Amino acid sequence: MNPPEQLPKHIAIILDGNGRWAQSRNLPRSEGHRQGGETLKKILDVMLEINIPYVSLYTFSTENWKRPKQEILTLWKLMKEFFSQYLNEAVQKGIRIKVSGDISKLPKENQNIINESISKTKKNKKLIVNFCINYGSHKEILYAVNQILITKLNMNKKNYNIKITEKDIERHLYTYPLPSVDLLIRPGGEHRISNFLLWQSAYAEIYFTNVLWPDFSREDLIKALHWFAQRERRYGGLKH
Ligand code: FPP
Repeated sequence: MNPPEQLPKHIAIILDGNGRWAQSRNLPRSEGHRQGGETLKKILDVMLEINIPYVSLYTFSTENWKRPKQEILTLWKLMKEFFSQYLNEAVQKGIRIKVSGDISKLPKENQNIINESISKTKKNKKLIVNFCINYGSHKEILYAVNQILITKLNMNKKNYNIKITEKDIERHLYTYPLPSVDLLIRPGGEHRISNFLLWQSAYAEIYFTNVLWPDFSREDLIKALHWFAQRERRYGGLKH
């Protein structure tokens, strides 16, 4: 395992490949999503074990509304079951649950279990698991800018010189107060970021793998961490 100083603090994962995993086994796509949830629990255990403090997960994007209605309904059902089953485990394991995205569009029971999960784990500190649900970076940045404008205009109605700073935006992102992403992992073989944590991943190392999310294992995570340890992060500067 990497020495602690070479471990990423914030890992982001695009949970991709559930549908293909199921289809290749002649199973309904929903079975892939269910298995994706099981894989997630195992990977969160590895993160706890190696002391990763923050993980963000892309579980439903603002673009996923374009999927067939039945698949969306099944996803909400699976997500509700996931949170209901996982809550006790999260409380006991020291996991704090956070959500980024507009959950007001989700079925009421999903909002309830999500809010309960957030409140029952709010004192936990070992690992913050940030579920990005009905999340898209463009929406998030627009939301931040609009919030800042409302605040600044309210503070001084005659201020025609309003300036928005990077700090302002950071403070109003859904993900606040999480730090920027160090390592972004995309399983499933696609090479794109798909509107996920664009601001937060400005200097992230991006790791792509063909492994489909339900098959993603402890060894796959360790491989990604070794790859990360070999990157030289210069943040736009020069080599030391
Ligand atoms: C992408 O796979 C995955 C999703 C859109 C949903 C991710 C959801 C889960 C893991 C379900 C459990 C919920 C929680 C909160 C853990 P895809 O359907 O795009 O796969 P494909 O590219 O192979 O079609």
